[in-house]
Amino acid sequence: MNPATMDTSPSTHFDGVDLVALAERHGTPLYAYSANAIRQRIAGLQQALHGMDATICYAVKANGNRAILELMAQAGLGADIVSAGELQRALRAGMPPERIVFSGVGKNDGEIAEALAAGIQRFNVESLDELHAIERIAGEHGAMARAAVRINPDVDALTHAKISTGKSENKFGVSIAEARRWFDARATLKHVLLDGLHVHIGSQILSLEPYRQALQRVAAFWRELRDAGHPVASIDVGGGLGVRYRDGDTTIAPADYVAVIREALAGFEGHLLLEPGRYLVAEAGVLLTRVLRIKHGEARDFLVLDAAMNDLARPSLYDAWHDIVPVSGEARPRAVYDVVGPVCETGDTFAQARTLPACTAGDLVMIRATGAYGSSMASTYNSRPLAAEVLLDRGRFALVRRRQTLDEMLAGEQSASQWETT
Ligand code: LLP
Repeated sequence: MNPATMDTSPSTHFDGVDLVALAERHGTPLYAYSANAIRQRIAGLQQALHGMDATICYAVKANGNRAILELMAQAGLGADIVSAGELQRALRAGMPPERIVFSGVGKNDGEIAEALAAGIQRFNVESLDELHAIERIAGEHGAMARAAVRINPDVDALTHAKISTGKSENKFGVSIAEARRWFDARATLKHVLLDGLHVHIGSQILSLEPYRQALQRVAAFWRELRDAGHPVASIDVGGGLGVRYRDGDTTIAPADYVAVIREALAGFEGHLLLEPGRYLVAEAGVLLTRVLRIKHGEARDFLVLDAAMNDLARPSLYDAWHDIVPVSGEARPRAVYDVVGPVCETGDTFAQARTLPACTAGDLVMIRATGAYGSSMASTYNSRPLAAEVLLDRGRFALVRRRQTLDEMLAGEQSASQWETT
């Protein structure tokens, strides 16, 4: 079912759907997501959390497609949002506002007001300046905002530097010393109920130890606050659970992850929040792309695909590994390729010196484990329209984002004919 974890199944079908026929129907590049695989991930995590007062707030940034958010909402999940755009996506997909939390270091006044008006559950606050902004805006609207302080526990998540967020030099959260001062001054806040703690140390985390360390620090702070008479109603443990991108990646089982949470927060009787993104969707997605041509270079052979870094930025941004597999049932000899896209940058490379079954022009290929941070990070660089997306479900498929048209891509641009002065 899940192509990243079940290599024994033929690489021609995904969630019961024939990928060759799918690509013929909707063209390439095409993102395809398995609803069934997503449901299984949700169920696994929910099962691990059984008996706990917990809400899973899916991190919308991982994949904000409406159909994916609807799957999450139907399963009872809420959302972790970082912008007014994500707020609207979550609300339109039917997520109840009381299951929405708002994270991020740069929430602007308009976004804060919009989230307050929508009645979201709480703000994960990242700076004193932001806390004051929420107090002011809530005051102007006669509202009461609920807030959690995002703790920066100064823990190394042992992941890629660009997606590590819990070290003191990172822009995220505040130190426990600063958070202590916020709670001590809690009574001066008239429009913010500061009664939560939040921590998120990074993404694609493959070892439990950083989680344990971060949660132990947060738990010690919670106990200190409790003893000082500051009630803590919720602890949000963030996201970050890693997935298997390549053979040999050992991931954290949800039960082990939740055991670490239970142990660190033993005795905590408030509400637990989790913000997984990647874990729920990454391995449920593939990017289907066609081989445009094979170029025999002086030094190496290039497999030129019709997908590029604008469709999937992870390899060029983080040197991320994604399995690349021809969609074919037949056995073929092997060949070594640099797998590249058509964009005019050397960084538009999906893989270097990758050994693959030999390909020919027109072959369909899938890039695996691209359900998270694939389409959500896509751009139209090189004036390439955004790819289409389909949701698969046990043999059926539905288009959930049509391919962007040229007119849609150019919409909003105009010639400089209406000049104004200030
Ligand atoms: N909560 C907060 C506050 C976050 O900043 C993030 C991700 C999450 C939850 C969800 O993390 P996840 O469970 O998905 O690891 N573009 C990068 C990943 C950036 C993650 C940003 N924050 C990539 O493609 O690897």
